[in-house]
Amino acid sequence: MPATFPRARKAVIPAAGLGTRFLPATKATPKEMLPVVDKPAIQYVVEEATDSGLDDVLMVTGRNKRALEDHFDRAYELEQLLELKGDKEKLLRVRASSELGTVHYVRQGNPRGLGHAVLCAEPHVGDQPFAVLLGDDLIDARDRLLTRMLDIQQRYGGSVVALMEVDPDRAHLYGCAAVRPAGDAEQDDVLRVTDLVEKPEPGTAPSNLAVIGRYVLAPEVFDVLRRTPPGRGGEIQLTDALRELAADPSLGGPVHAVVFRGRRYDTGDRGEYLRAVVRLACEREDLGPDFRAWLADFVASDAAATNGAPVGTGEPIRTGEPVTVGQRA
Ligand code: UTP
Repeated sequence: MPATFPRARKAVIPAAGLGTRFLPATKATPKEMLPVVDKPAIQYVVEEATDSGLDDVLMVTGRNKRALEDHFDRAYELEQLLELKGDKEKLLRVRASSELGTVHYVRQGNPRGLGHAVLCAEPHVGDQPFAVLLGDDLIDARDRLLTRMLDIQQRYGGSVVALMEVDPDRAHLYGCAAVRPAGDAEQDDVLRVTDLVEKPEPGTAPSNLAVIGRYVLAPEVFDVLRRTPPGRGGEIQLTDALRELAADPSLGGPVHAVVFRGRRYDTGDRGEYLRAVVRLACEREDLGPDFRAWLADFVASDAAATNGAPVGTGEPIRTGEPVTVGQRA
């Protein structure tokens, strides 16, 4: 693929949202720090950025920034203790998160929306294209979406969003794109974006192609964001700024989309979070075999219970007898 535009080198990871869907877990902990098996969600995201060649990472943090900063910093006391114990395996695991390239931080004092979070990155990013990875959105490391998007941005310039097909009945829950062919037969996963709508009214979505949490953006998006008024939910929406860019390519180049058909988990949603943990645990070499066996048993006994069969010991469940828990003699 001929390279005609400068490639993005920096990644911005917004992680300052309130995470209200996950309360009370997110009352004092950022949702991006919730563990997916044994790593916080945000570590997968930072690893994705650095694996794609973006080793300058700016995290946009909020009121609970301490946990995020500590996680990507050295933990000298813990490391010393593990060294003394000779526990090399755990030592490597502790160090891994502090050796992922340079992580910088900027604070979004008041979480006024994703568009506002991206605008907070302007002084660090400057006038180069840059990637945005939402800190609660996991893309399976084997699916290489970000690398593909960086290649497409380098080929066409402008900005690139990632789209995923969703059930048309659920399109109103996402930002949705109107698209046309990009006119390049070699890139059949690439479309040209002509319009974007944040959470359209049910039945009015321009397509069932939903925007997911990966972007490669032209720096002109900052000029547009500065004048973008609050939109859906009273928040400054990145989708609204991208809509303006898509409508007028003279502002900052075209907006293209890569259609993603791989594995993705929105860990800010409780159901998807649980699915992510189960799926990734099943695939792990160390935990997978035992966990799968337990899960198969659990699913079978759960199905039996739903069908009215007794579960567990094989003994019939006796009903009608009073049971006293924790009563003193
Ligand atoms: P969400 O749309 O999931 O919003 O943000 P939220 O407020 O965090 O979560 P809910 O809906 O209340 O549960 C998508 C990403 O953008 C970041 C979030 O941290 C998340 O990674 N974000 C959102 C910010 O950094 N700042 C904001 O003002 C809003």
